[in-house]
Amino acid sequence: MIEDKFILKTKVYSNSQSLQLLKKTTGTRAFIVSDPIMESLGYLKEAADYLNEAGISSTAFTGVRPDPDVTLIADGLKLYTESGADVLVALGGGSAIDTAKAILYFVQKFNSAEGTEIKKPLFIAIPSTSGTGSEVTDFSVVTSEGEKVVIIDEFIAPDIAILDSTCIQNVPQRVVADTGIDVLVHAIEAYVSTKATDFTDALAEKAIKLLFENLEDVYKDTKNSFARDRVHNASCMAGMAFTNAGLGITHSLAHAMGGAFHIPHGRCNALLLNAVIEFNADINGSASSHAAERYAKLATMLDLPARTRREGTINFMAAISKLKKSLGIEDNFKTLGVDQAEFDNALGQMAETAMLDRCTPTNPRQPEKEDLIHIYQKCY
Ligand SMILES: NC(=O)c1ccc[n+]([C@@H]2O[C@H](COP(=O)([O-])OP(=O)(O)OC[C@H]3O[C@@H](n4cnc5c(N)ncnc54)[C@H](O)[C@@H]3O)[C@@H](O)[C@H]2O)c1
Ligand SMILES: [Zn+2]
Repeated sequence: MIEDKFILKTKVYSNSQSLQLLKKTTGTRAFIVSDPIMESLGYLKEAADYLNEAGISSTAFTGVRPDPDVTLIADGLKLYTESGADVLVALGGGSAIDTAKAILYFVQKFNSAEGTEIKKPLFIAIPSTSGTGSEVTDFSVVTSEGEKVVIIDEFIAPDIAILDSTCIQNVPQRVVADTGIDVLVHAIEAYVSTKATDFTDALAEKAIKLLFENLEDVYKDTKNSFARDRVHNASCMAGMAFTNAGLGITHSLAHAMGGAFHIPHGRCNALLLNAVIEFNADINGSASSHAAERYAKLATMLDLPARTRREGTINFMAAISKLKKSLGIEDNFKTLGVDQAEFDNALGQMAETAMLDRCTPTNPRQPEKEDLIHIYQKCY
């Protein structure tokens, strides 16, 4: 029997002053994982000050870089162990949250290898991008030897997520676009996943609606607090959906491509999404797949014509293209500046890596390596 389960371990607090909830934290010492931008924007000090009001001293590790690699995680792990912290705070984008998760993962692994039982710290995640949903997922994406590796473990899902969208108001436009499309891909892939349920559908549908209604407004003006709150909530909802339903090959292909060419995760997803939808829906064939039915449902939800699965899927793809255009996203990897010879050389290896990615098994249509190569080529 296939077991449907929906797990949400994280307590979620969401309003524009929720960062102040740190004043109510219980503990003695905090280890804050963050990046230099959060430090220079003053959010790190603000968080440390609130923790201080709760009687908690803190040590900060601000070395996080986009797409965290294993060296960075090893550095963080050493400092975390030395700090003796009982509270772990991740403050930043997906890269900072995933670094904290990977630290936690390896602490647990090393301790269980040595037969010691670690006391798990209270883990608080404060996202500063509306993108990965990492504040509620049990995923962490780390880079090892140029390849992105997905760690999935319930142990690393945060205990508390603080969604304070004032942290987002200085995000550069390009990052708003990248991270916003990442949210869209999370919701769509969760919706067509082989593990989708009524529970994950509800979250994915709402996230998609909120994005189509508000993402362009945030892109145009990150000071628009109404739209910013909606997109920040959508990001978290999409995270809740995919941590339960899983993702699909847009992510598998983006992990392999992003690792090899250092393209921001969301932008990579944005350039791949429609070609994956075409493949999943079999749009050049019968367009009668279950995935096509799901895309057509999403089209109906957005008030787009969807008298047939094919028509709905095509209109849904057109709406995605329009949204991407409004966010200044390039049409393909060529216009993004990826070198053709390097791309051609990397194709086989990237497709192999993507076949083995942990997001591939939940894709609604199982690909062959050649299918993935074809999708990449279509997106160049
Ligand atoms: N764990 C998951 O569930 C999950 C899901 C999807 C993606 N990921 C991973 O997350 C990473 C991407 O995370 P991301 O898209 O949030 O980007 P990011 O954390 O890499 O940040 C992107 C850039 O924006 C800057 N930035 C972040 N917050 C800012 C703010 N408030 N103001 C100004 N600048 C700010 C960062 O310094 C960085 O330069 C990738 O490694 C990706 O593979 C993880
Ligand atoms: Zn993603």
